[in-house]
Amino acid sequence: MNYIHGYGASEAERLHDQATSVRDLLHADTRYPAGSVVLEVGCGTGEQTVSLAGNSPGARIVAFDRETRSLTRARARVAAAGLTNVEFHRAELFALPFRRASFDHLFVCFVLEHLPRPLDALVLLKDFLRPGGTITVFEGDHGSPFFHPDSETAYRAIWCQVELQRRVGTNAYIGRQLYPLLRGAGYTNVVVTPRNVYVDGSRPALIESFTKGTFTAMVEAVRSEALAQQLIDAETFDQGIADLYRTASPDGVFFYTFFKGTATLA
Ligand SMILES: C[S@@+](CC[C@H](N)C(=O)[O-])C[C@H]1O[C@@H](n2cnc3c(N)ncnc32)[C@H](O)[C@@H]1O
Repeated sequence: MNYIHGYGASEAERLHDQATSVRDLLHADTRYPAGSVVLEVGCGTGEQTVSLAGNSPGARIVAFDRETRSLTRARARVAAAGLTNVEFHRAELFALPFRRASFDHLFVCFVLEHLPRPLDALVLLKDFLRPGGTITVFEGDHGSPFFHPDSETAYRAIWCQVELQRRVGTNAYIGRQLYPLLRGAGYTNVVVTPRNVYVDGSRPALIESFTKGTFTAMVEAVRSEALAQQLIDAETFDQGIADLYRTASPDGVFFYTFFKGTATLA
């Protein structure tokens, strides 16, 4: 299992906080025409699905994930939002049950980071896209945070997350690689833009949903695995987490960069 965050209730809550805090950043310029069919790859608990379906009511969203528990949450979330233009499938990315060239658009959010072979995934996805169709990819990069007050110890705690992903063959620094990955996979018209999340004391909602609820909660969740693998001692890790929470104080600042890539299949 390469997905180090797991599928429990706290991870579902973290995905919700993450989606809420970056909704505009990601979705403000993501719209699909009426009549088009969009394949959402690795939809998880449906956090992005709700935005995709709500923002493009005339499009049909076909969303898949390999994890049944997440799909159950996703179905409930879409139903609660009253959206009817979504269908869900349980499927494995490397063995998809769909017809070739049957989608107008692909949407991939926070999935490549968890794949040992992200380039292979992007290449195989081309088979399901019709010529002239587009792909949209959204990824973070855990090398991008900086904050005030600064803390070497906080960076050491973050590094544990990065290293644990590296040890299962996945890449927490994937955001910066979107351009070469999309080009390398053979897409054209590749455009990548950084999307910054800047949080200070004037943005209490983002303090809660992003600095605490998305980023620090994610790092905090690897505590037992980081200790088990002797990446760090408990005291240093806990101090690093305390320092990350300290950046969520009214006089603290937190900064993170996501990357959005779009491209076309010639
Ligand atoms: C971090 S979650 C992101 C979920 C959702 N896209 C979002 O932004 O909230 C990554 C998802 O990718 C799914 N996933 C990872 N590898 C997969 C594979 N090989 N086939 C299908 N789903 C996969 C996981 O089950 C998980 O739900």
